[in-house]
Amino acid sequence: KSHTKVAVMGASGGIGQPLSLLLKQSPLVSQLNLYDIVHTLGVAADLSHINSKAKVTGFVGPDQLKSSLEGCEVVIIPAGVPRKPGMTRDDLFNINASIVRDLAVACAEVCPKALIGIIANPVNSTVPIASEVFKKAGVYDPNRIFGITTLDIVRANTFIAELKGLDPTTVNCPVIGGHAGITIIPLISQCMPGVSFPTDQLKALTERIQEAGTEVVKAKAGAGSATLSMAMAGARFAVSLIRALRGEQGVVECAYVRSDLTESKYFSTPILLGANGIEKNLGLGNLSDYEKQLVTASIPELKKNIKKGEEFVQKN
Ligand code: APR
Repeated sequence: KSHTKVAVMGASGGIGQPLSLLLKQSPLVSQLNLYDIVHTLGVAADLSHINSKAKVTGFVGPDQLKSSLEGCEVVIIPAGVPRKPGMTRDDLFNINASIVRDLAVACAEVCPKALIGIIANPVNSTVPIASEVFKKAGVYDPNRIFGITTLDIVRANTFIAELKGLDPTTVNCPVIGGHAGITIIPLISQCMPGVSFPTDQLKALTERIQEAGTEVVKAKAGAGSATLSMAMAGARFAVSLIRALRGEQGVVECAYVRSDLTESKYFSTPILLGANGIEKNLGLGNLSDYEKQLVTASIPELKKNIKKGEEFVQKN
């Protein structure tokens, strides 16, 4: 299979634009559909001048939403608003929840078999939102809806490499759980190559990975949250989905998915990807006592986030 059609929903944003650029550069993409409520025609015209294989088409506004999804096999969703000063988490939740719900309604109708990658935060809740929408529409397949947590893995790899003086491109540390604060659980005991840290340093490293998003929010001082590193991570995950779709064996990424491995209905673990999305959930592996404690602490928080997403779809 050599023609992969990909849609980016929210393609004009801080994440959407560099993510679209990276996907335009991928030889595995044949058609790139860019949807947003503003500016996509300009972004598409700009990217279309790059001499790579993918054809780029812009779609703007709700009237063009459905046509942007037609025939798409992979849909990546970075639409939403980033948290700004003065905004409560509830404000962010309500805005992004509605955006993800509306985009999911369109996906469920137009491309129910697509592999969906959700970046819009709070991912712990937006993945349940999209899943509930697909259920309501009678087209839910839990193997096809993913919360993209790849940036947590990328950050863990970078920070571990920094501390150990390693080449960051050779480090691979799984990160499980969810995609916010204490729900982010780096499995440093399973890092490849193997690394070990004294307890204090291990705790500090874990907390840095959990709060790395806030480092960026603070440094950007009101201008938003991580965009460039998130775009890289989102593109890496999208390309992994496409490689698996096209029959490559052995593609593994951590992702936040429907899961029965813990008491949390959605939980991120390493996933073997295949042509139909999740081929096999590779599970939590052997956890250290410290990592077991982190998992236990994350469950009530995850349950709360999931319930909030599910109730949003039931009530709205
Ligand atoms: N449909 C499609 N796109 C939308 C919609 C919608 N209903 N509403 C907003 N958008 C678009 C905006 O027009 C904008 O181009 O989503 C884009 C978001 O871009 P930014 O405001 O720059 O936000 P960004 O930093 O890219 O973050 C987007 O990702 O990490 C998360 O928390 C972050 O949820 C936020 C999202």
